[in-house]
Amino acid sequence: MIEQLRADGSLRHLLTLETLDRRQIERLLERAQSFVRPLGERPPRSRLLEGATVANLFTEPSTRTRVSFELAAMRLGATVVQLEVQLSSRAKGESMLDTIYTLQSLHVDALVIRDAEPGVPALAAAHVAPHVSVLSGGEAHVSHPTQGLLDALTVYQHKQRFAGLAIAIVGDIRHSRVARSAWHAFSKLGVSDLRLAAPATLMPEREEFAGCSRHTELASALAGADVIMMLRIQRERISEAHLPVGEQYFGAWGLTRERLALARPNAIVMHPQPMNRGIEIASDVADGPQSVIRDQVRNGVAVRMAALAEVLSCGRASA
Ligand code: NCD
Repeated sequence: MIEQLRADGSLRHLLTLETLDRRQIERLLERAQSFVRPLGERPPRSRLLEGATVANLFTEPSTRTRVSFELAAMRLGATVVQLEVQLSSRAKGESMLDTIYTLQSLHVDALVIRDAEPGVPALAAAHVAPHVSVLSGGEAHVSHPTQGLLDALTVYQHKQRFAGLAIAIVGDIRHSRVARSAWHAFSKLGVSDLRLAAPATLMPEREEFAGCSRHTELASALAGADVIMMLRIQRERISEAHLPVGEQYFGAWGLTRERLALARPNAIVMHPQPMNRGIEIASDVADGPQSVIRDQVRNGVAVRMAALAEVLSCGRASA
């Protein structure tokens, strides 16, 4: 596993939350919270990363993660490059590493990488020059650290604590990098009642998700839950033969208003998006009063500002 910290203990890369400790995660969350503003107010701007260059290298589709990394870098004064992979030399057969070396020669200081292949962010981190940082914008089914952080920040804003919360993660957990990073974040932050709810084919292997309870129907997972995190079926990682049928899935696993009533009255509903309304979640729940899905998106920019500030501003004053 790649070392994410520099010799002085500062964060150099952000590839996974798995090897960060509670204090490091809390530090990122505190810094992220300092960048959060209510909608309608101008977002904070700083010159902390003036002169630095951030490149987004996304080979899988993305709306929120890519745009929020871009805005995060711009709001800290950095220059941002979006590599359109279909239009780049990757399409002519250039290897990922050659692309990365090219960006490095162009004075890129941080690479944000999303890729369907496990290990690509770590491969990049193992080969870049010492002054270059790598951040994962989503690695296969393995990890999505900034999503885990924004999920934790959203929970904290609404519940003001982690200890004693019951959090249910529902849906395609097996193929979800979001679920894995959420599990790392929540378990390190002290959530002890973490529940996984999924049909057998979408449940992860036993060896994974230590400490979580497993539910093969929705009701027991939702009973008394404080937080419900719904997940999309990751069709791109499942063969046609194993794909659940949409309506049947909604019938058994979709979060409806009736089912939401099983959770605590003040339970919050989360979803990393993209949402498939009418498959994993009913529209009136997604848009309803308990939904914090849009807060998650807003927090994504703040978390990515915090992550970029941490890895790129070593030695500089805090924003
Ligand atoms: C997720 C992802 O790409 O893992 N989206 C996101 O980053 N918010 C979730 C998904 O695709 O289902």
